[in-house]
Order: sequence, then C-alpha cells, then structure tokens
Amino acid sequence: MSGKVLVLHGPNLNLLGTREPDIYGHETLADIDNGLREHALLAGWELSSRQSNHEGELIDAIHAARVDGTVAIIINPAAFTHTSVAILDALNAFDGSVIEVHLSNVHKRESFRHHSYVSLRADGVIAGLGSQGYHAALEALIKKG
Ligand code: DQA
Repeated sequence: MSGKVLVLHGPNLNLLGTREPDIYGHETLADIDNGLREHALLAGWELSSRQSNHEGELIDAIHAARVDGTVAIIINPAAFTHTSVAILDALNAFDGSVIEVHLSNVHKRESFRHHSYVSLRADGVIAGLGSQGYHAALEALIKKG
C-alpha cells in the first residue's frame, strides 16, 4: 500500500535548531523534513512538507490536500494548536487521517499549552518525543496502509 502524506509545520518552527534548543532540540526543520521524506520513500510513500508562520497559508494547504490525493496530514500547528478554531475547521473538512505532533511534551509545560483545538479532530496525538514523534506518526500511517 502506498499513499501521499502532507506534513505541516506551524509558526516559528522554521527556527528549529536555534530556537530554545533545550526544549526543541538541535535538529533543523530541513533535517526533520529530509529524514521524513526518506522514511516515506523507503515505504513507497510520497511525502511533502510545508512550514508557515501564517494561519491562512496553513489553512490553504489543508484545503489543497482535500483535492490532490493526500491521504493523511501530520501537523504540528505550534502555537496555533492552542488558538486556532480556523485550522480545526479546515481539518474537519479534510477526509483523510490527521495526526497531531508536538516536539515537546506540552502537558509538562505552561497550562495554556495543555488545550489543543486540533486534538478535537486528530486521530492520534504525539507529544514529547522530539522529531521521533513525526516518524512515529508516519510509521503508524504506513502500518495502517
Ligand atoms: C510545539 C508546542 C507549542 O506549544 C509551541 O507553541 C510550539 C511548538 C511543539 O512542537 O512542542 O511552537 O507545538
């Protein structure tokens, strides 16, 4: 079985590697995306990724995924996790699988990070495993087929 997966990264994740490395690690976003693309390719899957600091651009990418054959979205909405009904609504209009990933364990951090709008839609949520969380999400999708 093979499929097309979209990985979406929200605001400030373009700074990975230099942004609070004690919390988010030393890998850059390019390191993470390259590793994920290789992982997908080995399984015969197609993976594309997109980062944006703008809520509307993430919503537009979700809309595009509704009609371009994408079977699953792995999303780290970053701070929009805790604020964006609009991203939740867009994901509700997407028919495939949705997995929410956070590099840090948001439940161990400030209380405003404990609530996620996106979790109301996500089929699975992974937090606190660093970049391995994205790979765990991808592997779950591949195994599910
Ligand atoms: C994050 C956690 C969010 O609370 C934060 O705003 C981020 C990154 C994470 O990956 O741990 O930007 O989504």
